[in-house]
Amino acid sequence: MTTAKAFTNEQYAKLGAVIDQKKDLRNPLIEILRIAQEIFGYLPVEVQEFVASRMNIPVSKVHGVVTFYNFFTMTPKGKHIINVCTGTACYVKGALRVIQMLTEQLNVGMGETTMDGLFTLSAVRCVGACSLAPVIVIGEDTFGRIEKSDQVKEIINRYS
Ligand code: FES
Repeated sequence: MTTAKAFTNEQYAKLGAVIDQKKDLRNPLIEILRIAQEIFGYLPVEVQEFVASRMNIPVSKVHGVVTFYNFFTMTPKGKHIINVCTGTACYVKGALRVIQMLTEQLNVGMGETTMDGLFTLSAVRCVGACSLAPVIVIGEDTFGRIEKSDQVKEIINRYS
């Protein structure tokens, strides 16, 4: 897992301006948190505290929203998200083996980010490429018929 990185005053200034601009709208919290996640990459406690104090609302309210919606995350994501398809076709053709190869080579579990901040391992439902099962997707790229650890290594190297 990566450790929390220090945020810049510029990031906070940007978020502060967004809050000032939107806080009087109806139910602005989700939109503000969405933008905060764009600015910081994720929503650690210190960012949640900043939002709460600037909006003059309890931190518990902000935290409640962050943990309720699964598109918000409190842990940093890597530069590349490796999405392993765990849809039925991929599952039958060995998605679990693919996950095992990735976790061994990257030394992280599902949902975790590598120490160098390059990769986050994630699972997705069918990505519509079942004929290529088992499949992983990184950004716009789809890789199919992943059977050997050498293939996994070669794919990871492309993004390292
Ligand atoms: S189940 Fe994996 S692409 Fe369809």
